[in-house]
Amino acid sequence: MAEWKQTELEALETDLLLEAIFRRRGYDFRHYARASLNRRVDQAVRRGNLAHITDLISLLLYDDAAFERFLAQMSISVTDMFRDPPFFLRLRETVVPWLKTWPFVKIWCAGCATGEEVYSLAILLKEEGFYDRSRIYATDYNRRTLAVAREGIYPAAKIKKYTANYNNSGAGDSFASYYHAKYDRAKMHDGLRQNVVFSHHNLVTDAVFGEMNLILCRNVLIYFDQELQNRVLELFTASLCPGGFLCLGAKESLQFSTVADQYEAVAKKENIFRRIYSHRKERRP
Ligand SMILES: C[S@@+](CC[C@H](N)C(=O)[O-])C[C@H]1O[C@@H](n2cnc3c(N)ncnc32)[C@H](O)[C@@H]1O
Repeated sequence: MAEWKQTELEALETDLLLEAIFRRRGYDFRHYARASLNRRVDQAVRRGNLAHITDLISLLLYDDAAFERFLAQMSISVTDMFRDPPFFLRLRETVVPWLKTWPFVKIWCAGCATGEEVYSLAILLKEEGFYDRSRIYATDYNRRTLAVAREGIYPAAKIKKYTANYNNSGAGDSFASYYHAKYDRAKMHDGLRQNVVFSHHNLVTDAVFGEMNLILCRNVLIYFDQELQNRVLELFTASLCPGGFLCLGAKESLQFSTVADQYEAVAKKENIFRRIYSHRKERRP
């Protein structure tokens, strides 16, 4: 019998683990990018004081609390208020004038983590005067970070960075007018949450999310392999109205994807794309 290398054995064990999680728990990590997934699995094995990845299988099959901890660990929720300020500047300059032409604006913020991106959007819409005729659907598959997003309470220590980002994003007011600080926490104003619907949604297994005018999915696709990126991009394309906008993260791209020819770049550097009208086959006369 041929000798197996340790790495080959671990790859096999990881396949079995992901299959077991999918079949028992309904969460599908089988097409997540392997390098970062392997690091998370390795952490889970070490934290659980386990000898092998296969030991993790029985733990996650039978222990609900352990599975919840594993899920939280699988979700990398690093985010920021007005993350990549030049992106928000471009959004304001190039996309907002189009959005304002629609009577009602539906926005999907997919993979919203702890919500900073959602509050940044809400602030931008308020400053541009059309928050009242907008709705933001903020989704993530991580229920813990969604709970933080719903509350909108952040460490006061982060406010300096948030303010700097806000000031560099083409904003027109003072960031301090959007939160209330108490002790070491800062709570975003309730008015910013008024037209936001926070909900659980898994991009891998859940369905299309209504006819959106704008979809933001930034710094999420980097964790997926090409096949899954294509599936999720197809989900977004089916969720966007004709002429709607799609925004990806700094390290993400539509290039080489199955939907590339359905979009035109609005801002190449900031990864802002617009869905081309003519590709909407079902609407052709
Ligand atoms: C790095 S954060 C990005 C947060 C924010 N979009 C930003 O750019 O700052 C990635 C988020 O994607 C979420 N995510 C990963 N896989 C997902 C999936 N299958 N469905 C929904 N959300 C997912 C994670 O839970 C995490 O909150």
